[in-house]
Amino acid sequence: NEGAAPWVPSRPTVPALKAAVQECRGCELYRDATQAVMGDGPAGARLMLLGEQPGDREDREGLPFVGPAGRLLDDALAAAGLADVPAYRTNVVKHFRYERGAGKRIHKSPSRWHVAACEPWLLGELEAVSPVGVVVLGATAGQAVLGPSFRVGASRGARLDWPADRFAVTRPPQWLLATTHPSAVLRSRQRDTDFAALVADLAVVRQLLA
Ligand code: URA
Ligand code: SF4
Repeated sequence: NEGAAPWVPSRPTVPALKAAVQECRGCELYRDATQAVMGDGPAGARLMLLGEQPGDREDREGLPFVGPAGRLLDDALAAAGLADVPAYRTNVVKHFRYERGAGKRIHKSPSRWHVAACEPWLLGELEAVSPVGVVVLGATAGQAVLGPSFRVGASRGARLDWPADRFAVTRPPQWLLATTHPSAVLRSRQRDTDFAALVADLAVVRQLLA
């Protein structure tokens, strides 16, 4: 299975990617989702923020990080002094994966297979946006970029080299920084501590962009 590749425009721009992703049948996740959620952000963004997959709200509204996790992420970016830094926000998987339970749609993490199927869209976004740095939010995004042995706890908050051998893009990012996923902070029983750690990691991003 070649995943999403047949649907990705050969000369990607963000508007072209947004239009084309709605036709994607690269894996089965399109079937139960409302729509695909392509990344979004201001033109010329030097920073890319990479999450896992759209959540319930993102699935309904068609934009990344517009629900509770996005709000926490905005708060953390502001606390780290990054509120005014143009950032492109996206996810490694573009359709919402969930289970039905008690009349609700309950988030279910994408499998490694879904992540691999959806990777051509991320490559297109890297080509179109060409960010200087990428922040991976949580284990799914980190493993999508750095491979299955990646662990957030082992490498968070430090500048890592972009794995240029794994992603063939014309102008690869210069660096990568891993941190926790805002949804994990929301679910945490020590939310204040985990939020402070997220802010501390993002403060490193500010130095890397300076
Ligand atoms: N969680 C994510 O990883 N991405 C979103 O867009 C929203 C919640
Ligand atoms: Fe295509 Fe990705 Fe959606 Fe699967 S999750 S159908 S690969 S856009």
